[in-house]
Amino acid sequence: MRGIILAGGNGTRLLPLSSVGSKQLAPVYDKPMIYYPLSMLMLAGISDVLIISRPIDLPQFRRLFGDGSRLGMSIDYAVQEEPRGIADAFRIGATHIRGEHNALILGDNLFHGANLPSLLRRSAERLNGCVLFGHQVSDPERFGIAEVDERGRLVGIEEKPARPRSNLAIPGLYLFDGEVVDIAKRLTPSARGELEITDVLKAYLDEGRADLVWLGRGVTWLDTGTHESLLEAGLFVRDVQRRQGTRLGCVEEIAMHMGFISPDECYRMGTEMRSSPYGRYLMTCAHSYDRLPASARVPEDWP
Ligand code: DAU
Repeated sequence: MRGIILAGGNGTRLLPLSSVGSKQLAPVYDKPMIYYPLSMLMLAGISDVLIISRPIDLPQFRRLFGDGSRLGMSIDYAVQEEPRGIADAFRIGATHIRGEHNALILGDNLFHGANLPSLLRRSAERLNGCVLFGHQVSDPERFGIAEVDERGRLVGIEEKPARPRSNLAIPGLYLFDGEVVDIAKRLTPSARGELEITDVLKAYLDEGRADLVWLGRGVTWLDTGTHESLLEAGLFVRDVQRRQGTRLGCVEEIAMHMGFISPDECYRMGTEMRSSPYGRYLMTCAHSYDRLPASARVPEDWP
């Protein structure tokens, strides 16, 4: 499976913060925002990733990750000139997808929760069309919404409805088969001039090939699109990390656990950042890796 991170847009809700650079590079506590969606793809076993962003911001993403080889991955980059909608990612990413199964994640979505990686991997294995996730929220009018019947089956999808028919929001993480590129090419822009992701999902639903997977209460989903939610996400990360002594969205550590890189390589990256607690954390993780019990190494239940 191949991955796409959509990290463009003008971030107008985060002005003036976003006037100095990409919103998806803004700090969420101790690391750039994009580390979190990237780590989610990695935990799903994806090592081929395309990052899409604005022409002005792309060099910074490239500086951050290079070609991905330091993480044992392949990371490529593509430009989105204007924010033409989330589904534009499939047009831009057509050659990256090359007809294969793929996962799209929005660069401002942060997930945390036990079993999420294994849920993702299982969903990917039985993918037939597309998989969207459902997460209960108290403000459904802010999101794409999944409408379900009394048996919990997906019957409708709406983008930010004024009167939502459910409180089941669709987070910015989706799995698709290779046909998504053709579906996106056939889309017409919505009233707000965008290629809507919900129209892609509806096309699969009409064909009976959209699978809704519920994210249970054990999963936390944060979007970081406003000043308030950005701060909340940072505090959330700080609190979990402080309490557990582990780090969320730590891409080097995850690369090691996924077998993309060796503990030695992880350790080396730690030494390069040894003056920060993040770097020292990497060194400790790499150093103790061989002594971890097997159950702690398998990233099955990794948040
Ligand atoms: O966060 C989940 C929600 O994301 C879904 O429930 C909605 O169905 C989906 O439309 C989307 O809603 P948002 O209001 O969050 O969309 P927004 O326009 O803010 O874009 C989400 C991210 O994608 C944001 O980080 C910017 C990026 N983006 C967006 C567009 C439209 C791009 O990179 N390019 C674009 O053209």
